[in-house]
Amino acid sequence: MTPTEVIVVGGGAIGLASAWRLAQGGLTVTVCDPAPGSQATHASAGMLAPVTEAHYGEDRLLGLNRCGAERWPAFAGELEAESGCPVGYRTCGSLLVALDADDARVLDDLAAYLDRLGLDAEPLTGSQARAVEPALAPGVRRGLRVLGDHQADNRLLAEALLAALAGRGVDVVRQAVRCIVVEDGAVAGVALGDDTVLAADRVLLAAGAWSAGIEGLPADARPPVRPVKGQILRIQGPVDEPVLAGNVRGLVRGRSLYLVPRASGRIVVGATVEEQGFDTTVTVEGIHQLLHDAAVLVPGLLDLELAEIGAGLRPGSPDNEPVVGPTTVDGLFVATGHHRNGILLTPVTADAVAGLFGVGPAVAEIAGFGPDRFTPAEAS
Ligand code: GLY
Repeated sequence: MTPTEVIVVGGGAIGLASAWRLAQGGLTVTVCDPAPGSQATHASAGMLAPVTEAHYGEDRLLGLNRCGAERWPAFAGELEAESGCPVGYRTCGSLLVALDADDARVLDDLAAYLDRLGLDAEPLTGSQARAVEPALAPGVRRGLRVLGDHQADNRLLAEALLAALAGRGVDVVRQAVRCIVVEDGAVAGVALGDDTVLAADRVLLAAGAWSAGIEGLPADARPPVRPVKGQILRIQGPVDEPVLAGNVRGLVRGRSLYLVPRASGRIVVGATVEEQGFDTTVTVEGIHQLLHDAAVLVPGLLDLELAEIGAGLRPGSPDNEPVVGPTTVDGLFVATGHHRNGILLTPVTADAVAGLFGVGPAVAEIAGFGPDRFTPAEAS
């Protein structure tokens, strides 16, 4: 193995894309992950929803999300060209649907918020919404079309990133990192599960929800992230006659549900939001909730094949915003805490990491998202 300049701990979308940018910048990079592209990257739906995934008051996150969305088309094009692999980027917009008066009020509030921000959203009557998506339930009261929401295929994304890394000679070590080695306040490398030590004077910790549990870090350098469980399922529809024409995202009775249709006829239905620690058990209640809400929104889904059920762990920080920046340990950087926006924020995070490592332009929008924003009490 070539002596490495940077070790990236974690082979999810964030770690892989960061490694790609660092390798493009001429650094010798090693990625460590027992199963790259698995965990949250595999589970996710690949929604690129900068606005409808942000909540009122999250203006700073909204700014970063929009920056993430703006970078996606060029990122997808560049990655596809370099890797030769598709990433399933689709500019399909989304349709938010209200089934009752409470849902309709939520849509009105969101429409007013988007209007204040100068963002495109088109209010629709129930019949207009059904004209856009004929598979919607007949009782749909209203809709809101948000053109700025898109999607990518998260699983294809991971494959494309791994192919691009292989093309650039990046070593991907399929082992877990047990410990980050710190000597005299500076990072010196990592120790793997089998106690092999890989030396490097710069390390990027991008291990998603697992980032806080790696040994060896002083408390003030430990990124304050926790796992936020999401149960998610995949339904297989016909390829020739898609059940859903675009990208439907439904707000059903105040409960958030999204349906993300792929070109292959697969429809991703997600997702629960649960604070259950490192538990990825798929529960009857979780799947029942998703299937029930999905069938209320699009009754025809009940006739299709239930192709996959699963669960992933989003990395959530104390304010549920990303944690990207240098730590108190010299040479150690973190990129985690992307919570509900990991795939959306992959390009901007990778660009920001390149800037932090001095091999790309600085990304101004990432300022303020460093780990130093948390007080010790919040971080613990
Ligand atoms: N971005 C959707 C989710 O985290 O469930």
